Amino acid sequence: MNENIKSLYQEIESFSPENKSDLEKFKIHYLGKKGKVTMLFGEMRNIPAESRKDFGQEVNRLKNKAQEIIDSYTEKFENEISTDGEYNDLTRPTSYAHIGGLHPLTIVTQKIYDIFKKIGFTVSEGPEIEDDWHNFSALNFPEEHPARDMQDTFFIKTNPDIALRTHTSSIQVRVMESQEPPIRTICAGRVFRNETITARAHCIFHQVEGLFIDKDVSFADLKQTLLYFAQELFGEQTKIRLRPSYFPFTEPSAEMDISCDICNGKGCNLCKYTGWVEILGCGMVDPQVLELCGIDSKIYSGYAFGMGIERMTQQIFKTKDIRMFFENDIRFLSQFNSLNSL
Ligand code: DAH
Repeated sequence: MNENIKSLYQEIESFSPENKSDLEKFKIHYLGKKGKVTMLFGEMRNIPAESRKDFGQEVNRLKNKAQEIIDSYTEKFENEISTDGEYNDLTRPTSYAHIGGLHPLTIVTQKIYDIFKKIGFTVSEGPEIEDDWHNFSALNFPEEHPARDMQDTFFIKTNPDIALRTHTSSIQVRVMESQEPPIRTICAGRVFRNETITARAHCIFHQVEGLFIDKDVSFADLKQTLLYFAQELFGEQTKIRLRPSYFPFTEPSAEMDISCDICNGKGCNLCKYTGWVEILGCGMVDPQVLELCGIDSKIYSGYAFGMGIERMTQQIFKTKDIRMFFENDIRFLSQFNSLNSL
């Protein structure tokens, strides 16, 4: 080996810098533009052709050794506070990681679950692709009911018995068919209707459904449970009002309004100057439905209710356009990131 290269190699190998500036000097001394190793590369063309290859390899070895030393000390100095006045700022924020959060609809669904879990309700689930029996027939929908119409329901062309569920009431049927009373359950999920998408309506939305079946369940139980629910979700001052309504699967049926929490019942834009906001549908489970689901209506009675989660969420967060829940726009969704629960 060329003597000059040999001694340079030893020099490089035995180098041990005290700090970053030593290391910087070393780098310039050997690998800088006019550095010792760099200059050797320049000498290549003066080397006789037959030994040029060996020479080249040796100089490369030198360069690699120098680089190895630079890399290992750079890492060492990065990881420790050095003594020459320079220091690594250990409090410096690291690169920003985007931490996601729960979707507002999920936050509200979980809150509703929590409210009902406190009074002994369990959570149930059911499929989004349903058959006619669970979505309509067992719930007492007559053959000619408009909800079965192609305008409202997404049917499967090749099998009219299969549809995307239009409401979560289908889960009620599944629970009643498979469980013995007493039943006290709550379930939520996506539902589908063939609607034109606007700021107020969407072809996909979410519902929460509640069902309570036992001996001697009365309308008073329903009303008190709904009052408890409304006050837990919207605040103690909330009042409820039940208006007579119609659903094929409940008798009697009602729609529930809550007092508008924007104007405290005085009347405003949000409640259309009525002081009340419609929140859910409910009623006593029709004895015919109990029988269709295999429950003896002479022994048992029960109530049910169902509500749109988008409607609840809009009421709580005062968002105006239902489409925002489905657009996945981070600028909208990230506003709820810090919440994760209500
Ligand atoms: N399924 C009804 C709908 O989608 C909502 C509903 C009303 C559910 C009354 C119920 C109920 O359980 O008792 O409009």
